[in-house]
Formats: sequence, C-alpha cells, structure tokens
Amino acid sequence: MCGIVGHLGPQNSVELVLEGLKRLEYRGYDSAGVSFIDERDVLQNYKKSGKLENLIGFLGEGPFVARSCIGHTRWATHGEVNDTNSHPHSNDQLSMVHNGIIENAPALKSELSSEGFEFKSQTDTEVFLGLMTINLKKGMSFREAVTASFNKVEGNSAFVLIDPDTSDIYAVKRCAPLVCGINEGQSEVLVSSDPYALAGLVDKLYFPEDEVVCHLSSGNKNLLNFYELDGSKTTRYLSKIQDLSAAVSDKGDFDHYMHKEIHEQPELIRSLTHYYFAGEGVPALEKAIKEKPENIHLVACGTAYYAGLVIKDHIEKLNRIHCHAELGSEFRYKNPILGKKDLGLFISQSGETADTLAAQSLCKTNNLKTMSIVNVDGSTLFRDCDSNLLIRAGVEVGVASTKAFTQQVLTGMIYSAAMNGILDNPDRKKDMAAKFSLLAERVDKILSEENKIESIASEIHNYKGYFYTGRGVYYPIALEGALKLKEIAYVHAEGYASGELKHGPIALIDEEMVNVALVGPELYDKTISNIQEIKARKGIIVTIGPRGDEHLKEISDHFIELDFDGLDELSPLYVNIVDQLLAYFIAKFKGTDIDKPRNLAKSVTVE
Ligand code: F6R
Repeated sequence: MCGIVGHLGPQNSVELVLEGLKRLEYRGYDSAGVSFIDERDVLQNYKKSGKLENLIGFLGEGPFVARSCIGHTRWATHGEVNDTNSHPHSNDQLSMVHNGIIENAPALKSELSSEGFEFKSQTDTEVFLGLMTINLKKGMSFREAVTASFNKVEGNSAFVLIDPDTSDIYAVKRCAPLVCGINEGQSEVLVSSDPYALAGLVDKLYFPEDEVVCHLSSGNKNLLNFYELDGSKTTRYLSKIQDLSAAVSDKGDFDHYMHKEIHEQPELIRSLTHYYFAGEGVPALEKAIKEKPENIHLVACGTAYYAGLVIKDHIEKLNRIHCHAELGSEFRYKNPILGKKDLGLFISQSGETADTLAAQSLCKTNNLKTMSIVNVDGSTLFRDCDSNLLIRAGVEVGVASTKAFTQQVLTGMIYSAAMNGILDNPDRKKDMAAKFSLLAERVDKILSEENKIESIASEIHNYKGYFYTGRGVYYPIALEGALKLKEIAYVHAEGYASGELKHGPIALIDEEMVNVALVGPELYDKTISNIQEIKARKGIIVTIGPRGDEHLKEISDHFIELDFDGLDELSPLYVNIVDQLLAYFIAKFKGTDIDKPRNLAKSVTVE
C-alpha cells in the first residue's frame, strides 16, 4: 500500500528518498511527500496530492541539502485524497509517515482532543502525531515517546518518524513491512517499507520483527540500533546481505511496465525450469516435499488466488490430496477445520499481503506446517513460513499482476509433480521439462503476433461489458482474464464457468455484451454449446481456441487461434497470456493509466 523511505547520512537525503519513492510509487499514488532537516537545521515538510511527479514539480529545482529525510507515497485509507491528508504529518516537534490502519483512531481522537491536541487532517495517522506531541510535552525522550505512543495504537501499521532536534529517524511496526539497511562505506542508514527501494544503496538489510524500535542515528557509533518496547536492546531482527541492484528495472522500449512484463514471460519460464529441474532450487523443492500432507489449505488473494485454483486442480488430479483453495480475507475469519498433518500453502507475489499473512499466522498458531509460493525473497511471508518456493519472476512493477501469475502456477505445478515423484523419474522429468520449454516457445510466438490481438482489441474496446467464460481448468483463467480487464480498463468484466451463464447472467447478454470464450481441448463440445447460447442472444463472441477449428471460426466474431498440441496441463497458462494482451490493448485504446490504475496499489498491506 503506502510506500515509505527514510535516509540518514552525509549524502543528499532528499534526492535519495525521492529516488526510493520513485521505485515504490506503484505501491500507492494518491499523494507524495517528504520531510527533511535542512542545512539550517530546520524541519521542512513538502507534500502534494496526486502522483510523485506533482511533488517533484512542487519542490522545484534542488539541490536540497539535507542529511536526514523521510518520504511517503500514499494509498488513501482514512480521509480523501488532498494535500492536508497527505503524509508526512508534522509539527515543530516531529514529522512522521505511516503505512497501515490505526483501528482505535476514533477513541484516541476524542481522548487527544480533550487533552487539547488540534487535528488538521481526516487521517488516522494524525492520532500518532498527537500521541507523540503530548508524550514529548510530558518530557519523554523521543524514543520513549515512540514506544509509549505505539503501545496505545491498535491495528497493523508501520511508523517512521524524524526527530528535528537530533535529525535521527525512528521506525516501528506491527504486521506491516519494514526494512532497514546500512551502507557502511558511506556511513549511511536507510529505512523503507520495501527492500526494492534500498536496492543498490545498502550493503546489508535488516528486517526487524514486530514491536522492535529501530533507531537510525548518525551521532551514535552504531548507525542502527534495535530496542524492545521496554527500552532494552534487542537482536530480534534478521540481517541479510542481499544484492538487489539487478532488480531495479526500467520500461526499456515498451510504453508500459505491464507490456514489458508480459513479454518477459518466455525467458522466465525457461529460467524457472532450469532452477527447479537442475539448478539452485532443487534443495528448496526437496525440503518442500519432505512430508506429504493429509490436506492442503491453499490461501491467497486476487490474482494469486486464481493461480491457486489452477494449482489446486493440478495437485488434486495428480496427487489425490484434498486441496482447499481459500481467499485470505475469508479464511482468517471462518474458523477453518485444520488437521495436525495438514499443510498451509500461501501464494503471493509480494509476500506482504495482510490477509494472506494473517492466514499464515492462523495456520502457524494451529501448529500446521506452512509453505509459500512467493516472489519476494526475504518478504514477511518468506520469513514466516517453514519452507518456501520462489517463483523467480523478478520485480513486478505493473500494478496488474501478469508474469507473477504464470510463475506462481508453474511453481505450484512443479511442487505437485515433485510430490508425485515425477521429478525422480528421468523420463517423466524430461517430458515435463520439454512441455515447459514448448510453452515458452508458444508464448514467444503469440507475442511476436500480438498485433492480431491488438487489432481485435481496437474493435471491441467500446462495448458495455465483458463475460469471460471457460470450463474446467479454463474457469480460473476466465476469472483472472476478467480481473485483468476490469482493473486496468475500468470496464465491467466477469469471469464465469461457461455452464453457469444460463443460471442467471445470460439475462445480461445482448448486442452490447462481449463474450471472451476460452476453449481448450478439454470439455470442448460442452463449451461450444455455451457459446451458441450467447450467440443466439446476439452477444459478440471473441473465441480463444484451437488453431484451424473451422466451426469455432464460423460461430465467432473474432477468433484467436492457438496451438495447444503437446501442452496438456500448461494450456491454461497459454490462454491466460492472450487474456493479458487483450486486456492490455483494450486498456491502451481506452487511454487508462495502465501501470498505475486508479484506486489500486501493488501490495495490499491493510485488511
Ligand atoms: C491483480 C493483482 C492483485 C494481487 C493481490 C495479491 O492484478 O495484482 O489481485 O494478486 O493483491 O497480491 P500478492 O500476490 O502480492 O499477495
């Protein structure tokens, strides 16, 4: 959700913080702001609603000389998007930024108002500013005030604060992402909500546990110190040397990150195959399959959940293990039936999604083994699970998830195959690797002919609504295809199991509705009858189906032909890449902000 960056050190802090915020802007872009201590030791606060470029324009020409700065990009939760509600929130005693939600803000607001604190914004964050201000007035040290204020707030949050008296920065969190980093050579220390912001700027990362106060200080012999809430020193953090510099990406020749990320998929498929079939991923895979679970509780949100539905199908078919696919936001509150020998399996690109993390924690509390299929190495999910399978998608900047979906599904299928012993059998292993390589080849081909999909998008981008339909393994792909379209093109789109349309939604079909029909080799005849039902009601039919199928060509208004031969269980992924391109080009014709769709943020760290 919100992005946070803080920097303390001899280099120009404002520039480094702005650089970090640029990398995090895809996390939230309702507003941006920075607070820094200038060369006269005065606390400055600049904030602006809208994208980071608004703030940069507002700041004007630098350089701003500062050796301590905190910055924020906002995804609004409390209070509308305007300058006042933007972070940092500050007064002459401190400045602060926040990611998360203070759940008891209403009660604390009345308490603070009665003590004379005047609120300027509608945010929950300002409650923390109020608590700090009153605690500092009582004579507490800055760190004591941080601790006392943090003890009063409920909910999942990370706070980063700057003390104008010392220029020191303090950070503390509960169930929200936070990472510190040190660049020893430059005597610099940084803090962020995401290691990606620190890539190339630090030599070592430090991931504090919950309720650990991080003190970033230039006046201390240690640049970074960690304290428990009772004030004692602590080692409750994980330190890691991680070179993320290669992760910092740009759009290259593409107009959008999303388009670039769709195009990265063939290479990623190839490198994932090598990683788990013969490379460094083998030990992680062996660890993951050490114990065969009785049941699997597969939990995720959004696109990752749809990837989970495909994986569920694969695991159940191949291993005959009952696999319950659950949405993180539902699972955590449903009092699930969890057996001692069950496995909690969590799928996530970011590894920071609040509902997925809560589900993992619930499984852990119930003594289940937990495992992740995750992209971000070192993320909270990665650190909290007993075992992890990395999907190795690289940084995904486009808010709409594309390459992560493909890699999640493939990693899940590799896990399922390994559990079944396929990877211990040289012939079967070779077969599976050949299928992966065939998929990469076919995707390459589709990408080289994407102008055909672009031209269909140009004809269908102005319709009233879109139904994505599919049966069996194509049903989750229909759900994912519709999600992709609605989030980036801002049109109503729904994914349906083809056979379900006649149970209600078919009432919506008329000449203004498009049906994107996903037709693979499985359940072919049944799917065709469902298309006929829509055609009879004048719906516009866009079919993604087997090459050379004359019948499909005849009944469709637009036909995207695919070569399914030899792909077997990988076919749904192939179809999904066409869905990604279709959504991308429709959104492009509509002129939306594809990489930063309205109201969204890349990583959903609030409930
Ligand atoms: C949609 C999308 C979201 C995420 C969901 C889970 O394109 O990106 O639906 O899939 O918010 O996020 P992660 O995978 O980070 O847990």
